[in-house]
Amino acid sequence: MQITVIGTGFVGVVTAAVFAKFGNFVWALDVDKEKVKLLNTGKIFFYEPNLEELVKENLKKNRLKFTSGYQEAVKDSEVIFICVGTPSAPNGQADLKYVFSAAQSLAPFIKDRVIIVIKSTVPPSTNRKIDQIIERKTKNKFFSASIPEFLKEGTAVADALNPQRVIIGSTNKWVVAKLLDLHKPLQGPKIVMRPESAQLTKYAANAYLATRIAFINEIANLCEKTGADIEEIIQGLGADERIGSHYWYPGPGYGGSCFPKDVKELAAFASGIGERDGLFEKIDRLNEERIPKLITKISQRIGRLSGKKVAVLGLSFKPNTSDMREAPSTKFIPLLLKSGATVIAYDPKAVPSARKLFQEAVSFTTSPYKAADGADVLLLLTEWDEFKQLNLEKIKKVMRGRIFIDTRNIYDPQKVKKQGFQYIGVGR
Ligand SMILES: NC(=O)c1ccc[n+]([C@@H]2O[C@H](COP(=O)([O-])OP(=O)(O)OC[C@H]3O[C@@H](n4cnc5c(N)ncnc54)[C@H](O)[C@@H]3O)[C@@H](O)[C@H]2O)c1
Repeated sequence: MQITVIGTGFVGVVTAAVFAKFGNFVWALDVDKEKVKLLNTGKIFFYEPNLEELVKENLKKNRLKFTSGYQEAVKDSEVIFICVGTPSAPNGQADLKYVFSAAQSLAPFIKDRVIIVIKSTVPPSTNRKIDQIIERKTKNKFFSASIPEFLKEGTAVADALNPQRVIIGSTNKWVVAKLLDLHKPLQGPKIVMRPESAQLTKYAANAYLATRIAFINEIANLCEKTGADIEEIIQGLGADERIGSHYWYPGPGYGGSCFPKDVKELAAFASGIGERDGLFEKIDRLNEERIPKLITKISQRIGRLSGKKVAVLGLSFKPNTSDMREAPSTKFIPLLLKSGATVIAYDPKAVPSARKLFQEAVSFTTSPYKAADGADVLLLLTEWDEFKQLNLEKIKKVMRGRIFIDTRNIYDPQKVKKQGFQYIGVGR
């Protein structure tokens, strides 16, 4: 089948490469000509394990082409995926301008009976707006559907090849049959539902995971006041099958390109239809307040930050990605700098993005030990594997101070303290 993917960000590149791998011919389109140029050489502008290899393989087999030209990308395709960004507007609502603009641009070139699938995360009822935009620009028959994306950065290729579910939002039997056929090579359940349900399922899934993070951080706060240990509590909670031991991450709160904006968008959407002051607003507020509160707690324990040299380990919002959107580092570092601390940072993959963001305000280095050299405080922000077994002896030798802040609870506090550090974790 010939298909088109519009928007070659994280979701678009993965979607295009995976459908090409299954033998489809895929046009992947982006308005950013620089990105398109780079992608046509097989280079990816972000780090995602195994993605570059997959793109290169499919370019070589002539099953994948990147372009900025809507006409050539759209005119012969049977299915078009819209994968453009949907950031939050200042009022928290999903800003759909990129989705609408993509719809407007593709409409004049579609062939008859094309299926236009929204993969971007959008609020329920967006399909109807897309339909209206397209109807104004074509006489051809088309169908819109919604297939929200659930991949996780860092494991995006594996997730896209082995999704835990594919949700197909359409009430049209022919459309459903065609989309099921396109997704046939993918293992896992295919769940067919109304487009509105599909769109809301995506927000519900992210809001639920964000709620678990906010919840465990609330319990961690209580631990810090009572001598309880959050890691012990997680074991106790996890033993209950109704709760489970997975997905408990006490720490600096949730970040990344999805959770913060999706919770905000769901809260704004709920409020817009009369469900005000609900859970999602509260979760969003707790997350916004999380890092400023952590900084206050930290400075209560270690004294003034002014004049201290802080070695930051980890800049991406989670391991195995270079993505810094809403990463804890983007909130911690400005607050540290504002308090008069100096910051030297290391990350295995995110330094180029961080350099653009912080410019001269932060120095960057090439290993955790170089970052620790002469530092008063070691601040571990992202749980990259290479930070999990640091040589504490070596760290102690090179550091000026003895403060070890482990915002991901990677280390055993007793072991770190034994080395002579002051250990500060979360909820312990
Ligand atoms: N990143 C994730 O992990 C993830 C996971 C699941 C769902 N999503 C959702 O998928 C969507 C895309 O996310 P992303 O992270 O890939 O976004 P992104 O910002 O990385 O990429 C979006 C791309 O769309 C392009 N674009 C914007 N307007 C365009 C237009 N009119 N025509 C063609 N291209 C255009 C941009 O240039 C950009 O390259 C969002 O709605 C997001 O919420 C993202």
